[in-house]
Amino acid sequence: MIGCGVVGGGVVQNLKKNADLITSRTGMSMEVRKIAVRDLAKSRPVKTGLLTDSWQAVVADPEVDIVVELMGGIDQPLQVMLAAIEAGKPVVTANKALLAERGEIIFDKAASAQVPVFFEASVAGGIPIVKALSEGLRANQIEELHGIINGTCNYILTRMEAEKLDFQTILQEAKDLGYAEADESLDVDGFDAAHKAAILAGLAYGFIVPFDEVYVEGIRDISPLDMEFAQKMGYTIKLLATIRPHADSRIEVRVNPALVSRSHVLASINGVFNAVQVTGDVVGETLFYGRGAGSDPTASAVLADTIEAALGLAGGSCRTAPVLKSGAAAVLPMDEVSVPYYVRLTVRNTPGVLAQVSAIFGKHEIGISSVFQPEDHVDPDVPLVLLLDKAKEADMQSALREIKELDVVGSPCQLIRVEELS
Ligand code: NAP
Ligand code: HSE
Repeated sequence: MIGCGVVGGGVVQNLKKNADLITSRTGMSMEVRKIAVRDLAKSRPVKTGLLTDSWQAVVADPEVDIVVELMGGIDQPLQVMLAAIEAGKPVVTANKALLAERGEIIFDKAASAQVPVFFEASVAGGIPIVKALSEGLRANQIEELHGIINGTCNYILTRMEAEKLDFQTILQEAKDLGYAEADESLDVDGFDAAHKAAILAGLAYGFIVPFDEVYVEGIRDISPLDMEFAQKMGYTIKLLATIRPHADSRIEVRVNPALVSRSHVLASINGVFNAVQVTGDVVGETLFYGRGAGSDPTASAVLADTIEAALGLAGGSCRTAPVLKSGAAAVLPMDEVSVPYYVRLTVRNTPGVLAQVSAIFGKHEIGISSVFQPEDHVDPDVPLVLLLDKAKEADMQSALREIKELDVVGSPCQLIRVEELS
């Protein structure tokens, strides 16, 4: 193992806990032979004799059959993975950032060396969604995939809505519980969910998703006011990954906060739980649900992959490892995405404002489906909330730019996409 933090610690403990069960199911006994960490002085629940501060020592050890990369980051784990593949050792990883941003290098090398790379833990924690897409649903054309795939953000949004706690307090709790990434911005700015979305889209449509083409928006700007208004209009706010095919092999792959109808099942996914709704042309709708982050759920996925890798080495598995490979599909530019919108403007409390705003939406051929102005705001500047019909992102952004220039419109000006879910 390279890394023994939140996930690595869970792997060690749960392997110990279920060692007999694993042996009875597989006929093999798996053992942790060596663990690389950064700081040898840190106390941790493993025999100190196993520890080293050199990942190279783990990869090169002839007694090590499988390398489990749980260190996080991109550049160093890339070196680890490539060295392990070169040494002919199967690799298990939970590192979605690495796969989303350097997947092509890894999978090319793995294919030419014929070494499997397993990555179930990289998406949605303990939910076996990688296996589902690469095996269980492989006879389907994927028509649509929606996912709540960042546990930290879902935990923050759920608690902000239910307990009206402030963002920073809840984020600190998510960190203490081991949900958040070492760099919290990966979670709250949406990049972690986007890494996972890129992996899921790659599996569903057989192409290496260029990560910089995935539209990413996080939850930092979601205010309690938006949650209150969304609730009044029958919605909740979730950080949602949306993946769906369009004409010409172009795939919509985006992550953004979204208004989700309270009557939809995804609205009831709370706390650290994740859910992925996949619609296939043969199977119809499916829903995968479980804990999306934390030591034990992630360890569950890492251990399942390690067992698979061990069975493969022993010749006892006929399963091939999932693969991200280059293909003909491309990412649909965000400007062409078309959805309904929630817009909250801050406007001067004077007559005629709504007429000016709606004239601009009208000019861009964007229909207004609902307008809401709370009566309890009496300041000179008050919120004006609009629900807008489906429109192209490019048209919506042009309209908003013009609206922001009106004398009667101040800041903030909030735009949240409304997700129409089946
Ligand atoms: P973590 O708690 O920060 O643990 C990272 C581990 O890697 C630590 O043990 C650290 O050593 C070790 N490490 C870092 N740099 C190293 C180096 N150069 N050489 C040797 N060891 C090094 O992180 P984590 O939460 O377990 O996450 C690990 C990976 O799993 C990440 O890719 C993350 O995205 C992914 N993941 C995490 C979760 C989750 O819920 N936390 C879920 C799914 C996937 P020290 O202990 O000495 O600092
Ligand atoms: N930080 C990630 C999350 C860990 O909160 O979902 C699981 O991938």
